[in-house]
Amino acid sequence: MSDPSVHLVLVGLMGAGKSAVGLECAKRLSRPFVDTDALVEQAAGATVAEVFAREGEGGFRRREQDAVTRACAADRPSVIACGGGAVLSEANREALRRSGFVVWLTAPVDELSRRVGDEDGRPLLAGATPAVVLDRLAGERAGAYRAAAHVEIDTEGREVEAVADAVLAAFREAA
Ligand code: S3P
Repeated sequence: MSDPSVHLVLVGLMGAGKSAVGLECAKRLSRPFVDTDALVEQAAGATVAEVFAREGEGGFRRREQDAVTRACAADRPSVIACGGGAVLSEANREALRRSGFVVWLTAPVDELSRRVGDEDGRPLLAGATPAVVLDRLAGERAGAYRAAAHVEIDTEGREVEAVADAVLAAFREAA
């Protein structure tokens, strides 16, 4: 599992920095970067928000599970950034842990809310106060993140480069 030829997987709540840190890690490792939301969008021919609107959260989660399965099955070791709710599925948690080294990126809710700002495109935050939703999701999902992850890395007050340093150090240490 700690073999560096496995995928490097990032999980965590919206705003945790999975995409930015994942891109930075992929660049440094010269690996492909895979974002499960982007895989869902490619397969659906629609944005995440459109998939939620058309198919509901259940439809999105089914597509997300296909995306996680495909990302895990890639021959080339990749850096995989998972949508924040991907760990809710036990099948996803197992697939990610089996094929990757899974890092849970954390931050306090006020910092997560600052990072997500008022960007559109996250249907779970639409029309709501991000801090309220993120606080609820943090409570509901902590167990799932813990069950999925091999390590937890606190991103509070850290730039993308510093978080990537910490992620790659943990990855190498586990190898
Ligand atoms: C979600 C997180 C989003 C996206 C979708 C649902 C969630 O991804 O998958 O809006 O359930 O936390 P990011 O974590 O990349 O924003």
